[in-house]
Amino acid sequence: MSNDKIGFIGTGNMGSALLRAAARAVDPSRILISNRTLGKSQALAAEVGAVVSDNAEIAAECKMIFLGVKPQMMAEMLKAIAPVLEKREDGFILVSMAAGVTIDRIRTMAGSPYPVIRIMPNLAASVGESMTQYSVSDNVPDDGMALFLDVIRFAGVCDELPEYLIDVGCAVSGCGPAFAFVFIEALADGGVECGLPRDRAMKYAAQTLCGAAKLVLGSGKHPGELKDMVCNPGGSTIVGIHALESRGFRAAAMDAITEAYQKTVKLGETPSKFH
Ligand SMILES: NC(=O)c1ccc[n+]([C@@H]2O[C@H](COP(=O)([O-])OP(=O)(O)OC[C@H]3O[C@@H](n4cnc5c(N)ncnc54)[C@H](OP(=O)(O)O)[C@@H]3O)[C@@H](O)[C@H]2O)c1
Repeated sequence: MSNDKIGFIGTGNMGSALLRAAARAVDPSRILISNRTLGKSQALAAEVGAVVSDNAEIAAECKMIFLGVKPQMMAEMLKAIAPVLEKREDGFILVSMAAGVTIDRIRTMAGSPYPVIRIMPNLAASVGESMTQYSVSDNVPDDGMALFLDVIRFAGVCDELPEYLIDVGCAVSGCGPAFAFVFIEALADGGVECGLPRDRAMKYAAQTLCGAAKLVLGSGKHPGELKDMVCNPGGSTIVGIHALESRGFRAAAMDAITEAYQKTVKLGETPSKFH
């Protein structure tokens, strides 16, 4: 069994979701975590049994370092730990989850062409249901890949993707949970409008999306075919489909992806005032 230490720098929404999955996969006492606001990393460490640390210690000691800060904060954070990384004589791997930030840019900001795994997970990692794409620099060793796949094995489904497609992956499955949350909330609101108690409406809507997704993944059927199976002639479901189509639901969903994609590409290029 490996005793390599795993580090998490930046344990906000996404970093903490991956941390929770990692803490199920490896002995949490091997996991060092660091966050700008100390209280957040202290609470998380207490929850999962990980060790509170700081950026410099993680940079010096961890074999695999998950970078969980926002894209706009990456340069400043990496600049501060670059001298520590430079002194290391053993191998280590940087794992970036930053939307829009290329492997080349991570290496430039870190000061050397270190091995980098660029990942695009989503928030459902905390419940083992993330869709995570990843791209790998050419110098990640086999044992490093094995360690990575071991650490994130409880995060959900993983898929290696050429790096030029990872921003599209981000729009679909990185941003996608938010689009699904809005849809769930809207379905529940409709139920409440028609008289369902709020808690039941929310549970019914969420479980329905969960079941529909499992059907698409498990049946191998096209979603259009499954939709046809639910729509009886002259029935209520086809009336609901008509309402969605007449209000541009499908085009709105496609626009959500293309606009999120365009923004993701820009995130990696431009500094932002939103820190
Ligand atoms: N949210 C998602 O659904 C999602 C999905 C896919 C990928 N991502 C990527 O995940 C990354 C994090 O996003 P997020 O949504 O988790 O943002 P977030 O909740 O704001 O988390 C960022 C964390 O980084 C910490 N931080 C900032 N500067 C730091 C530093 N120098 N050293 C240590 N910690 C520092 C922040 O600390 P404070 O507590 O002080 O703010 C905060 O907890 C981004 O690169 C994003 O592109 C997010």
